[in-house]
Amino acid sequence: MAHTEFNMDNQWLPFTPNRTFKQDPRVFVGAEGMHFTTHDGKKIIDGISSLWCVGAGHNRKPINEAIKKQLDTLDYATAFQASNDKAFKAAQMIADMAPGDLNKVLFCNSGSEAADTALKVALAYHRARGEGHRTVFIGREKGYHGVNFGGMSVGGLPANRKAFGAQLLPRVDHMRFIHDPVNHPYIHHEEPVWAEDPLLELENRILVLHDPSNIAAVIVEPIAGSAGWYIPPQGYVKRLREICDKHGILLIFDEVITGFGRLGVNFGADFYGVVPDMLNFAKAVTNGVIPLGGVICRDFIYDAMMNANSPQHAIEFFHGYTYSGHPVACAAAIATLDLMKEENLFARAGQQGRVLGDAMHSALKGLPNVVGIRTLGLAGAVELASIPGTPGKRAYDIFMDCFHHGVWVRPAGENIVICPPYIVEDAHIDQIVQTVADSIRRHA
Ligand SMILES: Cc1ncc(COP(=O)(O)O)c(C=O)c1O
Repeated sequence: MAHTEFNMDNQWLPFTPNRTFKQDPRVFVGAEGMHFTTHDGKKIIDGISSLWCVGAGHNRKPINEAIKKQLDTLDYATAFQASNDKAFKAAQMIADMAPGDLNKVLFCNSGSEAADTALKVALAYHRARGEGHRTVFIGREKGYHGVNFGGMSVGGLPANRKAFGAQLLPRVDHMRFIHDPVNHPYIHHEEPVWAEDPLLELENRILVLHDPSNIAAVIVEPIAGSAGWYIPPQGYVKRLREICDKHGILLIFDEVITGFGRLGVNFGADFYGVVPDMLNFAKAVTNGVIPLGGVICRDFIYDAMMNANSPQHAIEFFHGYTYSGHPVACAAAIATLDLMKEENLFARAGQQGRVLGDAMHSALKGLPNVVGIRTLGLAGAVELASIPGTPGKRAYDIFMDCFHHGVWVRPAGENIVICPPYIVEDAHIDQIVQTVADSIRRHA
């Protein structure tokens, strides 16, 4: 199929330079296992699980079959004042996988909706227990929590905020970023040990400035994914939990990327041994096949909302989406989680993560313009020196070049990110990393 056979005039592409896209379009018409097929019949290896989604690989029959069966049984049913059997089952499976008493699942359709849902839960929870003055949210520089107004406000990627600055939520602050490019540019499956404590800034400046009694929640990604796989220093996540506990502040983990196996275990919360008060998920929960997101809340949050002294017929939380707990999406989630378990794919992600980490550090370190490599779980980023005056250009050029050599990676700022499906074989890792290495050399 030539690209002149389809009309590209009407779709406005998300997070894509639309003007140049049309000169050299990337159009997928099929996918199987580790690979896409393009409109002109090329096979491209999916080096990023289609944006961290496709853990089990593409076109998995048990998931497809579950969706088809669900369509023939209950295609859709309203989500308000009712539910469906698949939503109950999916929520139970997800709660069973989550650590501690993270037991109550609010479904939505995306990571962005999960972020805004969690922030609203935080406000409503504090209000329900008579602390409605707790309205300040704290995120982190370079955090990503989607593109809706709440998530964008607590997020810290400057380009995502720039055009909307005047209308971002007020009463939001940001902790400092968690990268030390001088002392820890190379992180090879470890937690960097910092001489200083980056959370002193939270305790001694940010909390003092707002007064801890006014703070509703802190939201972080356990590992900063969209920014380019930035790994926090040793002890950081545990200490964040302690600080929040000390001041009655809710801790929200945005696990849209780290959830469901990317780190070799169920969640980042398990990896770090820290239970947040809310845990956001999306993406891999359905293998990316159908949109589904959610927020898992600890029991005490739900209980406070239920016991807020409103009449029995009254709605406790004025929030939800038409498609919250969509039966087809939930059927896809059930089949995905069953498949991941059956094939032991989370453990496999952990194991193949080591192979990826070793390959990236040995093949990419020392190449021209490489200034850092960070690997942990089944993901890694290689950071490149910026071309003066054109930030992000080098990574974009390498991304395009890799595509033309059959490999799909992700440019994130000055980084190239690799995060393949959990089914990835050693030979695939070799192909992806060698293609990136060759491309880095070509762009020296
Ligand atoms: C940590 C995190 N939160 C939220 C989102 C937004 O998810 P979505 O694109 O499904 O709205 C993403 C997307 O990459 C993410 O990585």
